[in-house]
Amino acid sequence: MTENLAAHVAEGLRRMPKTLSSMYFYDEVGSQLFQQIMALPEYYPTRAEYSIFEAQSAALVAALNPPEASGPFSLVELGAGDGLKTKLLLRALLATDQAFTYIPVDISPSAVAGLMASLQQELPSLHVEPLVADYGTALATLATLPGRKAVLFLGSNIGNFDPVGRAGFLAQLAAPLGPADRLLLGFDLQKDPRRIRAAYDDAQGVTAAFNRNLLTRLNRELGADFALDRWQHYADYEPLTGAMRSFLVSTEAQTVCIEALGQAFEFAAWELIHTENSYKFTQPQIAELAAAAEMRVVATFTDVATDFADVVLAR
Ligand code: AVJ
Repeated sequence: MTENLAAHVAEGLRRMPKTLSSMYFYDEVGSQLFQQIMALPEYYPTRAEYSIFEAQSAALVAALNPPEASGPFSLVELGAGDGLKTKLLLRALLATDQAFTYIPVDISPSAVAGLMASLQQELPSLHVEPLVADYGTALATLATLPGRKAVLFLGSNIGNFDPVGRAGFLAQLAAPLGPADRLLLGFDLQKDPRRIRAAYDDAQGVTAAFNRNLLTRLNRELGADFALDRWQHYADYEPLTGAMRSFLVSTEAQTVCIEALGQAFEFAAWELIHTENSYKFTQPQIAELAAAAEMRVVATFTDVATDFADVVLAR
């Protein structure tokens, strides 16, 4: 992992604008900070999607199980995290008499360990085969899984891709799926731009700490010397494109040395490092995205406020 991280940082800080992937937010502290973000008053997506799962779990289960499907299947979840929403679905699935294996995939070893412990406690009869991996490895695993599959990609994790990356990822996700397989995608919908911006720049500064923790991680794992007091969190929402972007801002001209790379990087005053995309979507965009991956929309579920959509797709 350190090699991947080092290679990624070397490449990302050479780019214009300088870029680091949000994939590296999720070390142990980062995963804990994300747990705190999900409980913030400003961060609505998790609660919105939870309410969809709470109110419509039976209909979700039905949409994931086509009438022609029978026999055991794999329920693969990319970016499972704490599985709080998924547990609602798992309970509904266990209540039916179908045999299935839950395969939660997450990049954070601590998140997977926490999820396993809580599943053992709360759903002891569930058959689980966890995987600590990034999306690339998860896609490769998915392609080798025998039998029927239902794939979950919740929480608007798909918003982390830029438009080109998103289309490519969805095509890769669709490729190993057969006609009875299903894909459940969570999308944060476009809404009052001020609400969206506030969700990524909360009053308590938890999101700022989450973003800046990336630098702490580089200091620890790559022997970098980022001075945290010279970096600010900045979050910008662009309603015309749905692009919610997070940045780290260098508050003065500075040089940062990264031991593991044997390299120094110059930052101008107020230069940015782009650290995250969290795109927001319209329902027509979702339909278009599905069509481009040669998938059809089987069912769409939204919360009462239409803040969030969970969409079931099939080939
Ligand atoms: C876990 C990727 C869905 O983009 O909304 C929360 C991560 N970043 N606050 C998101 C995040 C800042 C989150 N996802």
